[in-house]
Amino acid sequence: MNTSEPWWSSRCSGALLDSVSLLAEWERDLLEMSVPQTDSNSRSRALQSLSDQTKKLWNVFNTEREKLDRDYMSEESSFLAYLSAFFIPNIERSRHALSSPRAASVLENLLESETLRILDFGAGPLSCSFGFLIALGELATRKKINKIKNIHIIAAERSERAVRIGQKWLEKVLDSKFSIQIERRTSVPKDQLFDVVLAANVLNEIPDKHHFKTLQLLKSSLYAEDSGKKSILLILEPGQDVHSRKLVALRDEALSSLGETHFKIVAPCPHTLECPLSPKMNRSDWCWFRCKFMVPTFQADLDRKSQIDHRELAYSYLLISGSKREETQKPWAICVSDEMPVGDNEGQERRSVYFKSNQVGDKKISDAKIEDLARQGFKTKLCCSSGKLLGAIREKKSEQESYLRGLEVDKSNSFELFIAER
Ligand SMILES: C[S@@+](CC[C@H](N)C(=O)[O-])C[C@H]1O[C@@H](n2cnc3c(N)ncnc32)[C@H](O)[C@@H]1O
Repeated sequence: MNTSEPWWSSRCSGALLDSVSLLAEWERDLLEMSVPQTDSNSRSRALQSLSDQTKKLWNVFNTEREKLDRDYMSEESSFLAYLSAFFIPNIERSRHALSSPRAASVLENLLESETLRILDFGAGPLSCSFGFLIALGELATRKKINKIKNIHIIAAERSERAVRIGQKWLEKVLDSKFSIQIERRTSVPKDQLFDVVLAANVLNEIPDKHHFKTLQLLKSSLYAEDSGKKSILLILEPGQDVHSRKLVALRDEALSSLGETHFKIVAPCPHTLECPLSPKMNRSDWCWFRCKFMVPTFQADLDRKSQIDHRELAYSYLLISGSKREETQKPWAICVSDEMPVGDNEGQERRSVYFKSNQVGDKKISDAKIEDLARQGFKTKLCCSSGKLLGAIREKKSEQESYLRGLEVDKSNSFELFIAER
């Protein structure tokens, strides 16, 4: 597959599933479920009805979460709204979180097994399972390996209806050379082990006091390393501050209670010390990532009606290895902001004083250079392998690419000044 093409525009030869057919099935079923296809206006009436339902669910998710009915996925209107506004974007969020070089280094092992056992907790219509299978298929195509023959998914999900539609689509679009078995359970089975455990956008539907217990349960569902298997757990949450901060607090709690040998973070963190963006630090920023998304045509039609923009998708996440000995290559740092000009002309003097007194590192930089950077520098925030949060400043030339949130950074990158962030 050409890497500049979005996954949904190609049948992905050599991969696991046919994304073009998935999009077609999703569009056809959504239109059919929303209004009977009897007259020539049915498409535009369906779009209108889906967008009305989407606006309602969007509002509850974003501003009135306490009003969210625990069985919203089984209720007709919010089920259709979820499929309209969240199914495809959440496939992309999960796919993107699993496509970083560090995630790929762990996923690659999974391509060596004949049977892949997946637990999708809070699966809804299996969005995260689709995202995982697409990321794995892309990796299989790049690496030219794939020994998988059987895929077994357990969807631990309250809503039978949500799982059934995801199951119907997956059974239709999965390449026929793979055998697939999908079972729904209402809770995580305690007597089974998995290669892959997925929990996307579900932690925020569970009371905070149960987060750590849920994490332990999911972690204990992974094959341990003495089985000879390399297993992974993905927890993905929305990108907003409230959700990211809870995930970070859970990360810190797990590291301090379980210890870093039992809680091996593959991504995004380049260290296992306390998170410098944790709620304890009382900062206004938080740890989140994003991907640019080339929105498929039917999603774009739905978005125009509901006035939702999916061209950039935010999320926060943790990818954890089931193996105590997993040693993925950690980058020197990871960007936790996009690169921005340091500020306006007026603040230049104040900034220059601030840069001089907060400068870190052993590089000798002249006062004149610091003043220059305070005037026209570009700054990126970095979460470093030392556990520190640093501001990294450079004089950016017009032809140089910007540092973007989520990018892994090598120490040799061309920053001229580092300052400690507080
Ligand atoms: C926001 S949806 C996420 C669906 C899918 N993972 C995604 O990312 O698109 C959350 C799902 O979790 C399910 N859920 C919430 N709490 C649950 C629990 N304790 N046990 C099983 N399912 C649960 C809900 O029914 C809902 O379908």
